[in-house]
Amino acid sequence: MGRLSIQLAGVPLQNPVMPASGTAAYGQEMAQDLALDQLGAFVIKSTTQDPRAGNPAPTTAQTSGGWLNAIGLKNPGVTTVMTEKLPWLATHYPDLPVMGSIAGATFAEYVAVAQQVASAPNVKWLELNISCPNVERGGLVFGTDPHTVETLTRQVTDAVTKPVFVKLTPNVTDIVPIAQAAEAGGAAGLTLINTLTGLAGSSRLKMCWSFIWLVPMRSKSARRRTATRRPVSTSSTSCRP
Ligand SMILES: Cc1cc2nc3c(=O)[nH]c(=O)nc-3n(C[C@H](O)[C@H](O)[C@H](O)COP(=O)(O)O)c2cc1C
Repeated sequence: MGRLSIQLAGVPLQNPVMPASGTAAYGQEMAQDLALDQLGAFVIKSTTQDPRAGNPAPTTAQTSGGWLNAIGLKNPGVTTVMTEKLPWLATHYPDLPVMGSIAGATFAEYVAVAQQVASAPNVKWLELNISCPNVERGGLVFGTDPHTVETLTRQVTDAVTKPVFVKLTPNVTDIVPIAQAAEAGGAAGLTLINTLTGLAGSSRLKMCWSFIWLVPMRSKSARRRTATRRPVSTSSTSCRP
């Protein structure tokens, strides 16, 4: 075992480095620039039952405080993930443990997708992306209600044998009861955090902000204030319907 090796819910990793879900899709493009076998694990893009086209472009935008994204949960659906994406990772990177990211619009969809993804031999853990609108509750995002989080986590943990991580949305008033609900539902761990909601102004508005901040940014206390602006301009829901 190397100096950086760790165990994640009982599974050994050569190091704790893994991409956030969606940022490296299913690895094929990323493998052209990065030796995936150097990673500790690979987290795949969130997968739903059926393919989703996602939001129309542009889905990302750079701001002075970070990137905005509104991908809309674009993914090819669980059948393609099971027959193409996960087998490709297993063939090319047989020693790379994979975390399967699951999304859905109903409890039943989460459970069904979780069972399929968990059956892949290279998937060692599941991650529940709970930043999705729950159609059974009028579009309320799953991850903003503790009772919903506990129920969903319990249904998935009861349906699979692999450890389940719950990826929390930061877009709540108090994240602690949500984290406790995930734990009560049997989560092996938490993933922090999904995309922050945000808003970028027009270039004219941006000029206005620059003007307002020009003078205060010279002082130390103002630099601290600038840091607090980052969440405001870093961005959006990652699985908007
Ligand atoms: C292009 C892109 C695609 C993403 N897709 C997913 C996704 O499929 N599932 C998910 O749980 N998070 C997704 N995310 C959110 C990231 O995994 C991560 O939680 C988020 O970007 C916050 O981390 P950051 O502040 O380091 O960017 C995506 C983010 C980006 C930029």
